[in-house]
Amino acid sequence: MKSEIITLCFALCLTVAVTASSDSDYYGKTKAANLREEKVTRVRFYLHDTLSGKNPSAVRIAHANLTGRADSAVGFGSLFAIDDSLTVGPEKDSKEIGNGRGMYVSGSKDMSKFTIVMYADLAFTTGKFNGSSISVFSRNPVAEEAGEREIAIVGGRGRFRMARGFVKIKTHQIDMKTGDAVLRYDATVYHY
Ligand SMILES: *[C@@H]1O[C@H](CO)[C@@H](O)[C@H](O)[C@H]1NC(C)=O
Ligand SMILES: *[C@@H]1O[C@H](CO)[C@@H](O)[C@H](O)[C@H]1NC(C)=O
Repeated sequence: MKSEIITLCFALCLTVAVTASSDSDYYGKTKAANLREEKVTRVRFYLHDTLSGKNPSAVRIAHANLTGRADSAVGFGSLFAIDDSLTVGPEKDSKEIGNGRGMYVSGSKDMSKFTIVMYADLAFTTGKFNGSSISVFSRNPVAEEAGEREIAIVGGRGRFRMARGFVKIKTHQIDMKTGDAVLRYDATVYHY
């Protein structure tokens, strides 16, 4: 009997506490997620990363003074802003379907293992994914050319809201002198 009273009292106290907390000064509500069926979309496009010329799509915005050689554009610590075009095919005049905007940083002290880390939003500006984008936050081991390399998709907007997945990247073409590259992106996107 006594323990029942204690239990009841405890339950009442808890109710009071919960009621009080709902009076807090900001809105917050948690409920079971009504998950829709997860879908998977595969999409292929080419990304043009151009560092050379009068109209580059990748520009160095910072670099370290202490590591590597200051004259090496891609030395460890170099940070680039990008507005790379995404196209249907690898050719320069191929139909543009979007753009990849964000940054990448040269992230390996060992330049024989040249690696960038990407923070980018790859957005579609035409077709059924117009207005949607996939968010990439990933290491990109550029030097690992044996086979395809892979980067992580950690989110998205529009049709790709809450996305996760990965992109298999293959270098279609690279100019070792300028760093200009055309890359094939095969994205596998899980989303709702
Ligand atoms: C950066 O490096 C250059 C060349 O080594 C040097 O002349 C310059 O003083 C350095 N700047 C700073 C802020 O350390
Ligand atoms: C893509 O979406 C934008 C914004 O909604 C719209 O202005 C534009 O006309 C669309 N482009 C195509 C090709 O559908």
